[in-house]
Amino acid sequence: MKSFAGRDILSLKEFERNEFFHVFDVASQLEPIARNRHNSDMLTHKTLVTAFYQPSTRTRLAHEAGMHRLGGHVTGFSDAKMTRAGDFYQESIKDTVKMLEYYGDVIVMRHFQKGAPHEAAKWASVPIINGGDGWGEHPTQILTDLLTVIRERGRIDGLRWLAVGDMRMRTMHSLGHALTQFDCPVTFVGPAADALFPGSPSMAMPEEYKEDFRRNSLNFSEAEHVEQAIADADVILVEPVVQPDYSKSRDERTGETGMTPANFKITRELLETKAKSDAILLHSLPRMDEIPPDVDSTRWSRYWQEAFYGVVMRMSLLALVLGAME
Ligand code: CP
Repeated sequence: MKSFAGRDILSLKEFERNEFFHVFDVASQLEPIARNRHNSDMLTHKTLVTAFYQPSTRTRLAHEAGMHRLGGHVTGFSDAKMTRAGDFYQESIKDTVKMLEYYGDVIVMRHFQKGAPHEAAKWASVPIINGGDGWGEHPTQILTDLLTVIRERGRIDGLRWLAVGDMRMRTMHSLGHALTQFDCPVTFVGPAADALFPGSPSMAMPEEYKEDFRRNSLNFSEAEHVEQAIADADVILVEPVVQPDYSKSRDERTGETGMTPANFKITRELLETKAKSDAILLHSLPRMDEIPPDVDSTRWSRYWQEAFYGVVMRMSLLALVLGAME
């Protein structure tokens, strides 16, 4: 296995099966630090730079929290409009990261353009972690979700997944790539064109990703309604279908948003009547109405646990790419 030291984390398409397990193993070693709410001194001489060109609660703060838990330092921006990249100059990714690489030792970047972190990685002399790029990928979120599944179900192989939501969503692409490395059939349930309202775009899995998944032997199928697949699912992963345009730097909500159709919604009644008793329900959040709040207290819900493992996973990745753990 190639060392993680100095590596970029851009896509899960590049991840091999043993690399997944290595990242989970390092996460296990570091987990007690977060669970006991301690800070260690592992990365005391290292600094994380956060370069967020799009809003984030979890991804940015979980990376920052992970860095603090390991004793490191954090600098960066959470709004490109307060930098030269987002004002009159529209400074390029190259010019920006050629500066940022001197301000810290690893950069986590979220960007509205698919491929922007890959462009940054071409120029930066320090590792780049993709914190979500447009309708591209969100590798650290799906690594978090897989770690949550291991902790909550004891294994990944042999579990059947149901993925519900907008299949243009970056998490869905990272999920498909990741599951090629495991014995995990997956059913994708996403809205076809016009399914939300007349003229709504297709939110089915884009063909380019399906081609990739087939090439890499993913056992996947597609369905139109969660009711067609929920009874067999061990892991149910949900994303919104009512959501912003992720290829914009900011998408403020104006007027009515519409509601999530029943096809893409996981209700308490659906779980009680159709889901396996031991299935687990993941949502990386934020949510709209696709999982109503009365599901939160059911035995299926695991999204708060997912939030904890989000910090642990970022600790693992930061320790690995900064060479503090081998
Ligand atoms: N899950 C996730 O990426 O959340 P944020 O947009 O808040 O980072």
